[in-house]
Amino acid sequence: MSRAAVVRGLGAVVPPDAVTNAMLAERMDTSDEWIRTRTGIGQRHVVAPGVATSDLAVDAGSRALKAADVDHVDLVVVATTTPDHPCPATAPSVAARLGLGHVPAYDLAAVCTGFVYALASGAGAVASGLAKSVLVIGAETYSSILDPTDRTTSVIFGDGAGAVVLGAGEHDEPGALLEFDLGSDGTLADVIMIPGGGSRQRSGGVPADPADVYFRMDGKRVFRAAVQRMAGSARVVLDRAGWRVDDVDRFVGHQANVRILRAVAEELGLAPDRLVVNLDKVGNTSAASIPLALADAAQRDELSSGDRVVLSAFGGGVTWGACALVWPDIAVF
Ligand code: COA
Repeated sequence: MSRAAVVRGLGAVVPPDAVTNAMLAERMDTSDEWIRTRTGIGQRHVVAPGVATSDLAVDAGSRALKAADVDHVDLVVVATTTPDHPCPATAPSVAARLGLGHVPAYDLAAVCTGFVYALASGAGAVASGLAKSVLVIGAETYSSILDPTDRTTSVIFGDGAGAVVLGAGEHDEPGALLEFDLGSDGTLADVIMIPGGGSRQRSGGVPADPADVYFRMDGKRVFRAAVQRMAGSARVVLDRAGWRVDDVDRFVGHQANVRILRAVAEELGLAPDRLVVNLDKVGNTSAASIPLALADAAQRDELSSGDRVVLSAFGGGVTWGACALVWPDIAVF
C-alpha cells in the first residue's frame, strides 16, 4: 500500500501592518458596520512596499520546517495567485532562500482553493514515492493586485502566508491526509479574474482598460457557488472517510466571508460552533487562508490533537476542494 502524507508541522505569518475597516472608510465609500455585517471582517494585514509573496512564503516555510523539526524536504509547492513575477514561478526562489538546495519546486494556481490543491499535489507525490517529504505553502500579497478604488474587493482581501510540512507515514496515524475531493468549473472563469497580463490580452504591456491589471470579482455569483461547492465537497470527503457530520470537531473552511461559512454549516447540518473563524482578524487571504485559520485555531486551543477536521475551499477558476484528517500533535509556529 502507498505511503500516507502526514502533517508534521505548521507555520503561519501575516505582515505586521493591519488595515482596519475604519481606515478603509477614510479612503473609500464604505463603513465598519457594512463590512462587518456583510463579511465578518474587522481588519486585514498588508505588506510594506517592497515586500513580495516570496518573502511571506519564506517566513511561513521556515516556521513550518522548524515546527516539523526538519531542515530538508524533497519537494516545495507554493500555492499563490500573486507570484513575485508572471515568470518564472516563485517556488524555486523560496526553496533556494530556505536553503533546501536543488529540490523540485513549482507554483500551483487555484486561487483560494490553492492550498487544498497543493496539499493534494503533495500527498500525491508522497503516495507515488516521488517525495518522502513536501513543504506545502500558501502565500499571497493581494494588496499588489487590488484596485485601490474598488470597494467590493478592497474590503475583503488581505496578505499572509501559511505552510505545512508533509512527511511519509501510515494511513491510520494522526495527521494523515485521509480523503480528498477536488473539482473545477471553467464555465464560471469570469466570476474571479485579472483580465490583463496574460496571453488572452496581448497588449504589449498596455492593457485595454487600465483596470484590467486588477483582480475582479462578481461577489454575488461567487457567494452562491462557494456555498454550494464548499458544502458539496465537504460532503464527499465525509462520505469517503465514513464520518457523519456530527463527527466533525473542526470545520476549517476557506475564510471568504463569515456568511458563506455559516451558510455552508447550515447546508451541511453542522453545528456553527464547529466552524473555525479567523477572518475577523486577517480577511480573506486566498491560498494562505486555511493554514492561517489552522494556526490561529491551534494557538487559541480551539484545535487539539485527535480532533476530526474537514478543510474545504472554493476559489477562482472556479475551483473547489476538501480534505479530511485527524489533527496531529504537532508544533505550530
Ligand atoms: N461598502 C459599502 N457598500 C458596499 C460595499 C462596501 N465595501 N460593497 C458593495 N456595497 C454596496 C453595493 O453597491 C450595493 O449597493 P446598492 O444596494 O445601492 O446597489 C450594496 O452594498 C449591496 O451590495 P451587494 O453586492 O449586493 O452586497 P452583498 O451582500 O452581496 O455583499 C460581498 C458583497 C462581496 C461581500 C459578497 O457578495 C461576498 O462576500 N461574496 C463572496 C466574495 C468572496 O468571498 N470572494 C472570495 C471567495 S473565493
